[in-house]
Amino acid sequence: MSKGRTAIIVGAQWGDEGKGKIVDVLSEKFSIVARYAGGHNAGHTVIINGKRFVLQLVPCGVLREGCRSVIGNGVVLDPIAFLKEVSALRDAGVKVDGNLFVSNRAHVILPYHRMIELASENAPGRVKIGTTSRGIGPSYEDKAGRRGLRVTDLLDLNLLKKHIENACREKNMIAHALFNSEPLDADRMYSEYADASHKLAPFVCDTAVLLNRAIADGHSVMFEGAQGTMLDIDHGTYPFVTSSSATSGGAVIGTGVGPTAIDSVIGVSKAYCTRVGEGPFPTELFDSMGDQIRKKGNEFGAVTGRPRRCGWLDLPLLRYSGMINGTSWLVVTKLDVLDELAEIPVCVGFKVNGRETGEIPAEASCWNKIECIYKTMPGWRTPTQGITAMSKLPKAAREYLSFIEQESGGARIGMVSTGPGRDETMFTDEFSELMNSDVDAMSPAQERS
Ligand code: IMP
Repeated sequence: MSKGRTAIIVGAQWGDEGKGKIVDVLSEKFSIVARYAGGHNAGHTVIINGKRFVLQLVPCGVLREGCRSVIGNGVVLDPIAFLKEVSALRDAGVKVDGNLFVSNRAHVILPYHRMIELASENAPGRVKIGTTSRGIGPSYEDKAGRRGLRVTDLLDLNLLKKHIENACREKNMIAHALFNSEPLDADRMYSEYADASHKLAPFVCDTAVLLNRAIADGHSVMFEGAQGTMLDIDHGTYPFVTSSSATSGGAVIGTGVGPTAIDSVIGVSKAYCTRVGEGPFPTELFDSMGDQIRKKGNEFGAVTGRPRRCGWLDLPLLRYSGMINGTSWLVVTKLDVLDELAEIPVCVGFKVNGRETGEIPAEASCWNKIECIYKTMPGWRTPTQGITAMSKLPKAAREYLSFIEQESGGARIGMVSTGPGRDETMFTDEFSELMNSDVDAMSPAQERS
């Protein structure tokens, strides 16, 4: 039997590229969808039959009948948030039981993680990141510090009790000394999390075994990224990043599936750019055009409701993202948001200290000195929402997409999205064929080289 095909879906920008919708549309072609990083800081809005779902932890595949969903070891799991989401899905008639699996090796977010994060974000002298305040960073800190609690440990009540007692003692002392925070009650925490432990247990297994067996048995797996390349802890705009590996490499670490099993990487980019939270954003718009894009694109955070910062498409960053992720296919979303514009500037290069550079600076000080070089593309001034064939797009829109493809560093455009609904999506013929084909044909980058 040949191995099942696999693809990683990754955000090519600062998150919120519309990955949720793309994973939802493509889940029809995959047996399993697996999340590999982040936690309930991610917010995937999916609209099905006019009904709006915001998924924060559970992979979007859960909404597709016959598709199994996995939360991998690279995710940090807030059990209370997880159970709340599961309960809302059950109420909406979505089959979660027997269909959704949580890694026994995923790390757990506990209330003191949120306490520390909230207090430290507002502490004088700290660099404000503008986090989602979900305790994501402090939970990954405990993981790296080898003092975290994993899902498997949560299921062992003796271990859980001891862990909470010790951790609360330490965290309460730190939070009081540094931020003058009120202490958390360890007994109350234990009883809440012991209850959650019982409810979580049926979902827990060794998901690395599940995924590797499934692939070996010929089942296809899609790895669903959270956040985006520029929020990756290593490759993003550090320190204004999240605390996990949001790039394609994270899929390997965050699920326990080896790199040789990955067939293709699909990078998702908006037709423009957005960012939430603090940090550099070279093509950011500060004028009424930014407001216009925010309004038309409904650019408000799915998790925190914060207005997203908006700007023009940034090709140097798209090329960087292509390099870091090894992107083979590109998906362009929210093309319709640009429908009314007469002209669309696109950033084609960066100047730092007056000199053109092909590299993305690592130094925070250089980010603020970036001058963008723009090329202005003609707009199409025709509605594109609801168009389902590339050939039906206005000529200027096709030229805009071709230009992105040409300048993206080697990836090919496979899909374009012109609205939030499942049917407001179009495929290129080649990508459509490949999504329906076997593993040997999955990577255009391999074919071309
Ligand atoms: P954290 O992930 O909550 O630690 O937040 C770190 C940074 O990542 C902040 O700037 C957040 O706004 C940003 N961030 C985290 N998750 C998302 C997301 O799903 N979309 C967009 N930005 C995010």
